[in-house]
Amino acid sequence: MRETIQISSRYGDYDVIVGRNVLTRKTLHIDCLAKAKKVAIISQKNILELHGEKLLKSLSIPKERLFIRTVQRSEKAKSIETCTRLWQELLKEGFSRDSLIVAFGGGVVGDLAGFVASTLLRGIPWLNIPTTLLAQVDASVGGKTGINVPQGKNLVGAFYPPKRVIVHTAFLDTLSKKELKSGLGEVLKYAIGIDQRVWLKCKRESFKATPSAGLVTACLRAKADVVTKDELEGGLRKILNLGHTLAHAIEGAAPAKMSHGEAVAVGLRYALALAFKHGVASSEYVSEALDLLGKAQLAKRPPSGLTFTKLLPFFAVDKKSEKGGLTWVLPTGPGQCKLVKGLDNNQLAKVYTEF
Ligand code: GLY
Repeated sequence: MRETIQISSRYGDYDVIVGRNVLTRKTLHIDCLAKAKKVAIISQKNILELHGEKLLKSLSIPKERLFIRTVQRSEKAKSIETCTRLWQELLKEGFSRDSLIVAFGGGVVGDLAGFVASTLLRGIPWLNIPTTLLAQVDASVGGKTGINVPQGKNLVGAFYPPKRVIVHTAFLDTLSKKELKSGLGEVLKYAIGIDQRVWLKCKRESFKATPSAGLVTACLRAKADVVTKDELEGGLRKILNLGHTLAHAIEGAAPAKMSHGEAVAVGLRYALALAFKHGVASSEYVSEALDLLGKAQLAKRPPSGLTFTKLLPFFAVDKKSEKGGLTWVLPTGPGQCKLVKGLDNNQLAKVYTEF
């Protein structure tokens, strides 16, 4: 089964092709690849070892036009130093605006390769072929690219969508439990506060096996609906940060203590507690949502010793922080949420110590 989801963007529409076995010559039949004089695959060593042969066979590009570059297997790869290396290496190889970058990996690879594509020669085309659950259900769609700086994650970047996203869910079979859990945090974000279709699918999922192509597709449809309406995060798209305000602060204050998805799961529990406290979520809904998180066996608490005071500086640099305070995304019912501004720090701290 193969589905195509179309996304509208100020750079032109693009397709997300999703299904269990969709990385083929046929789905890679796209103008920017056919015309590309040079193609760079940006990936990681372990991904190429596992799936590189499949990618090369599907791309079927002569060796002299193909360049393969690998980056570190952690958030550390999303640095200005890695960008500088890639910019310089590709320029030395003669990359021009009719060249192409192929991002092949998880969220780190997609964010970094997309940012390099957005900045090299003021923008060259790129394709995204995500291999992790987190990237397949969320990060690969919507055009967010970026790198990290000492002040926080993803604080430098661009909205620059790929020309096509190919979501080959068979890649999920090789993921470790930890990597799957990291993606489940995002899946549950969609279920709990963004889209009822994902909520219903998650109710039926045991989360014991690799998520089905149907569940991945439901998340992608949910994301497509949001980013098509608000590509640049002027309003509606902020809902996709459900669970992320606390998650990003945890990742900033206690780097590498938790995977992104586990931090999102903790952020979702906190958002549910805040929503209940503020009277915008019923106890029945909150307990059903907590059951879903429990079923997926995701983390319940922030890393030990991480006090609210330690998190505060990271809330201040949150991208949703503007005049009038930080915008919180509070879940209100299955697949629904609302944006709330100006929550008081004392209340936030109280719920943090209690949840
Ligand atoms: N991952 C949130 C967004 O794409 O807006």
